[in-house]
Amino acid sequence: MDKNTIKRLIFVILFVIIVVGIILIIQNTNKTEKALKELGYSKEDITVIIEKLSETDIEKILNMEYNQKLVSILNATYYIPDNLDRYIAYSPKTDNIDDIISIVNVGADNEWYTNTKETNLDDGIKMLVNKFHYLKEDYLPNDIVSISNWYAYEGHSTKKEVYDNYINMWNAANKKGLVLLVNSSYRTFEDQENEYNMSNDDYASRPGFSEHQTGLALDIVSDGVQGNEFENTDEFRWLQENAHKYGFILRYPKDKEYITGYNYESWHYRYVGKDLATKVKESGLTYDEYYAYYCEYKKAC
Ligand code: DAL
Ligand code: ZN
Repeated sequence: MDKNTIKRLIFVILFVIIVVGIILIIQNTNKTEKALKELGYSKEDITVIIEKLSETDIEKILNMEYNQKLVSILNATYYIPDNLDRYIAYSPKTDNIDDIISIVNVGADNEWYTNTKETNLDDGIKMLVNKFHYLKEDYLPNDIVSISNWYAYEGHSTKKEVYDNYINMWNAANKKGLVLLVNSSYRTFEDQENEYNMSNDDYASRPGFSEHQTGLALDIVSDGVQGNEFENTDEFRWLQENAHKYGFILRYPKDKEYITGYNYESWHYRYVGKDLATKVKESGLTYDEYYAYYCEYKKAC
């Protein structure tokens, strides 16, 4: 055979391989589409499933009963592919798709304080501490400074960066005739143990699981005000509008107990830095949800 004949032969063989390949892919897709249709999925559902899921995941779906919530889960804003099995497992528990996504993303499809892992200390001021992420008993934050009695009740301390930003926030609030007061701040593991023993799981973290051990959390109130009475004060309303500008977020918002694991605490503010605090506020998410999606999954927070 001359060179040209060999070239032509190779071309023909390659052409045949490509055509056969395309035919096989089409046949396989048709088979998958047919099987999904037989399970009860609509044409639009099937397009989403094929577009969003890997072959292995589609195989799993084909081995399950029709799930009416599946496509809404796949289309949800904060869908994380690795959590697919857990979304499906949790889906019978509520009809609210966003709740399925949030609960699974933060790990709250597990019992509180189970499947726990150590907080990633490399996150610095962005670190997540909650009922699934803990600090070791010997974790001691650096740069802890005392808070002057001008800004707090007696005997409080926090990280220097938090203090500087708190003072700026205090001064801005004070210009509006408001007086903020810190009534709880940095706590050691042992302090938290005492706090927990005097309270319960709805309000206090178990030792090692408290943001107060990071030195990044402040309980802020106004003079003489107890607990959630604080939300009826001008100081609280001002913080709602402005805390993020100084790097603080309200950490345990109202009606998010099933995500944060804590009752509403209008007084507990967490410092995460101005940029992140602004993004978290704009997202409308709790920090647990924000961290799971943007910091951990998207690696962009
Ligand atoms: N009160 C908050 C949840 C704590 O104990 O850290
Ligand atoms: Zn607190």
